[in-house]
Amino acid sequence: MKSELKNVETAISGLQMIPIDTKQQEFQKLMTIYEKAMDKTKQELEGIQTSLNKVYKYNIINNIECRIKTPDSIINKMKRKNYDLNYKALISNVDDVAGIRIICPFKTDIPKIKNVIEKESSIDILQIKDYMHAPKKSGYSGLHIIGQIPVDIGGTTANVKMEIQLRTMAMNFWATTEHKIKYKANNRLSKIDSKKMVFYAKIINELDNRISKLNEKYN
Ligand code: GTP
Ligand code: MG
Repeated sequence: MKSELKNVETAISGLQMIPIDTKQQEFQKLMTIYEKAMDKTKQELEGIQTSLNKVYKYNIINNIECRIKTPDSIINKMKRKNYDLNYKALISNVDDVAGIRIICPFKTDIPKIKNVIEKESSIDILQIKDYMHAPKKSGYSGLHIIGQIPVDIGGTTANVKMEIQLRTMAMNFWATTEHKIKYKANNRLSKIDSKKMVFYAKIINELDNRISKLNEKYN
């Protein structure tokens, strides 16, 4: 069964209310748990990539990227969201410590990949954030899966949360370039520049729709 395991919070219950110190051994230990979850997820997704690429006769999954959130980025997010700075709050609220990104050519690939993850993997989907049908205010588009995967942690198996982002190559182009531009602007784009980015996201969405449609025509 997919979700009948303990989660990390109960599996390492001694840690729960301890304040987070990112230099501590406990923190490093928790990060290795997330790393295991990320590696296992990536491995399963690569299996899906191999079989789907055969089924569809093109690379429906172009590439898979992953990263562990940096300690600074974890703490900043927790402060920004007003969470208590203890391990319990981290484990139960920060879903994207382990992050995996799937990039595909066509918009229509995304639901197909999502369905296979849902039905043919040990990944248990907890929540879907559909920014394809409802883009973020910034213009950001993509499909996010908040999921959990069973991981061996010191003699026991527990469910560990992670975030899978599904994007088309075009969505990924927008998101990575927007991220770079925003970073240069210290995260503060002027109103006019934000509007430009929203407009560019709309153009990209239109392109994604047209190209997907053209692709479907020849299937
Ligand atoms: P974060 O604190 O950013 O993780 O937000 P969240 O936990 O509320 O989740 P959300 O689904 O909004 O965003 C998660 C991730 O989606 C981010 O870490 C980015 O990778 C991506 N993302 C969301 N919004 C934007 C955006 O406006 N621009 C870019 N470039 N990426 C975004
Ligand atoms: Mg994030």
